[in-house]
Amino acid sequence: MRIQKPGFITPQLLFLGSRDICMYLVMGEHYALLGGGVAWGVAKLEAQLDQYHVDRNRIRHLVISHAHHDHCGAVPYLISRYPHIQTIASEYCTYILNKSKPVRLIQQVNRKTLDALKRPHSFNGISLDFHPISIGLQVKDGDRLSLGNGLSLHFFQTPGHSRGSLSVYIPELEALFPADAVPFPEKGSRELTVTANHDYDDYIHSLEKLEFLPIRVIGYEHGGVLTEDDAAAIIPRGLAATHQQRERIHKRYEELKDFDLLVKEIAEKYQTLELFRLVPSDLMRAITERMVKSALGLV
Ligand SMILES: [Fe+2]
Ligand SMILES: [Fe+2]
Repeated sequence: MRIQKPGFITPQLLFLGSRDICMYLVMGEHYALLGGGVAWGVAKLEAQLDQYHVDRNRIRHLVISHAHHDHCGAVPYLISRYPHIQTIASEYCTYILNKSKPVRLIQQVNRKTLDALKRPHSFNGISLDFHPISIGLQVKDGDRLSLGNGLSLHFFQTPGHSRGSLSVYIPELEALFPADAVPFPEKGSRELTVTANHDYDDYIHSLEKLEFLPIRVIGYEHGGVLTEDDAAAIIPRGLAATHQQRERIHKRYEELKDFDLLVKEIAEKYQTLELFRLVPSDLMRAITERMVKSALGLV
């Protein structure tokens, strides 16, 4: 089953945000927020926390899956408003979130999108501008964090989409939260969007690492939640889709014999997807270029 509307998935797991940009509240004795969201989603998130009567004091952790603008944009607001929340990320993500060039890029995309959506640049008197984020806890493969009440977060480093991608698994719920590290279904179709932006081989290895986990729930940071058979089948299906996409890129390159044209063609195709509508075209092109290079073995 596919769930695209925010709400309770299980009594201890609350889907927040929207279909396009999802966050999850894991409710043990302490709570953990999974997903760093976007600046333009902050007002909605606060309204949802009110709607579900969430005690903000119990939110102790915020897991940032990777340092892309659509996965950490709400963090500066959240840690300013709720300074007791501990941020969690991988070592590489921590490095990127404090490096001037990527921070500037996220800041620019943030500002442009807030303007495009005609949203104010502050909320509750707090600026929505992006800035370097200090990470309270760096995690790596095999690290675990207990939330009490029988729930724990298990961390997996799952590079490939980005070098610093982190996935979270909750064994007690058999729930996996891979953010963009696992292909996700397109809106209104069963087709999977492969997100091997940084490195195809790493992406495949990461999927293989997750393959052994029993999965009843998969909570993406785009596109919502899959449950039951859809969730259980996603890793093998994702692996097949990834291999197929790499072959398609090779084939198309042989036909076109023009790297730039191929990048342009694929970037334009991605940008027709609703999810990437707001991504500036120069950024989309840069992301696609890296992906195509990796698929062709040029990196
Ligand atoms: Fe991403
Ligand atoms: Fe993303």
